[in-house]
Formats: sequence, structure tokens, C-alpha cells
Amino acid sequence: MSEPAIGVLISGGGTNLQALVDACRAGVIPGRIALVVSDQPGAFGLQRAEKAGIPTRILPRREFPGPAAHDQAILAALEEAGVVLVCLAGYMRILSDEFVRHFRGRLLNIHPSLLPAFPGLHVQRRAIEAGVRFSGATVHFVVEAVDAGPIVLQAVVPILQDDTEDTLARRILAQEHRIYPQAVRWFLQGRLTVTAGRVVIREADETPGAALVQPPLDGP
Ligand code: GRF
Repeated sequence: MSEPAIGVLISGGGTNLQALVDACRAGVIPGRIALVVSDQPGAFGLQRAEKAGIPTRILPRREFPGPAAHDQAILAALEEAGVVLVCLAGYMRILSDEFVRHFRGRLLNIHPSLLPAFPGLHVQRRAIEAGVRFSGATVHFVVEAVDAGPIVLQAVVPILQDDTEDTLARRILAQEHRIYPQAVRWFLQGRLTVTAGRVVIREADETPGAALVQPPLDGP
């Protein structure tokens, strides 16, 4: 049986993409990245994908009449690649409800805060300004509302007295690179289910061929 295919959406540097690439290569993720889509032609993550021999598609929004057509093109590219899971990895656009519904229960995002605190943008700066002592990273299923889906995994990062947006972002990023591959691994092992908006992580099923069960989602 061929390994399950993963699609990754990026807009920038792609360090999370790199973490996923490395985890696939190391066998931590029981799947392969079949396609990387970027809306930014200059995204450095594209070079990472090419270096890893992963097919890429560049789909800039300005080449489409509007957001719906853009998302539809991305959806079609992912379907053509046969992906069973889509990972947002620094993809800086809000996806349409149609896109989210299409990939419901198989669309993950990584966010650099402890959701539900600090959804949206500039979250490291906002966490420092709010004076909170801890922030972190969250992997969650994507639902129509931004940064609001069921939480799979979080990592806590202390905020230090002399932290800047940049130093905090770097420490959070290091944790993102740890938890995103772990969450994808669990997903492909079929261990994630969503009940009443909460993710339950089941014990590993050691049965050969037990991988890849779609997590049933029960509403946002
Ligand atoms: C990460 O902080 C991620 O949480 C956020 O965007 C950033 C992407 O970084 N969604 P990279 O492109 O993976 O390096």
C-alpha cells in the first residue's frame, strides 16, 4: 500500500514544512508530502520543497478573479495530488468556507499561541504586551471560524522578562517543529477523533495496516 499523501500550504519561509519533510523522511510521519502549494512565488519554502524533490504549485491570488476561484484552484490541485490530509504551514490567507468544508476533519493548522488565547496576527507581540507569563504553539483542526477549531496538541513556552517579539517567536517556532509532526503522525495513525468539539487521542493501534482512519468531526 502506498503511503498516504499530504498536501502542505505555505506563504513564507517554510520551517514547519521542513519539519514535516524531515519527519516523513525519518519515518516519524507515516506518509509522504505529495504537493506543496504557495500563494507567494518568492516563498523560501518552495526551495525547501524542491530540494526535497516534492512537487510544487505556485498559485498567486492575483491570477484569479477572486478568493473563491483561488481557493477552488488550490482545492483542485490538492485533489489531483490525492491528498488525505492538508497542513497549513504559515499559509497567510483565510480559506473560504467551501474549502474548509471540503477538507473538514482533514485540515490542520499550526498557530503560534496557546489558543484560544491570541488568535489572528502578531500574536507574539500581543502576548508580550498583555503581560502573560506563558505562550506557546497550537496544532488544531481548521473550521470556518479563524483559529477556532478543535485543538490537537499544544506546547507551552515561557515568556521571559527581556523577550522581544523575535526572540519569543523563535522559541515558539522550535516547539512548533516538535508538535506539528507529532500531530500529523497521530492523524495518519488514525488516532484522532473529535467529540463535542474536543479532540480525543486514542491509544496506538498496533495492528498492521491500521493506519489512516478519518477522524469524524461532529460540528464546529
Ligand atoms: C509559524 O509561526 C506558524 O505558526 C504561523 O506562521 C509561521 C510560519 O513559519 N502560522 P514557517 O513558514 O513555517 O517558518
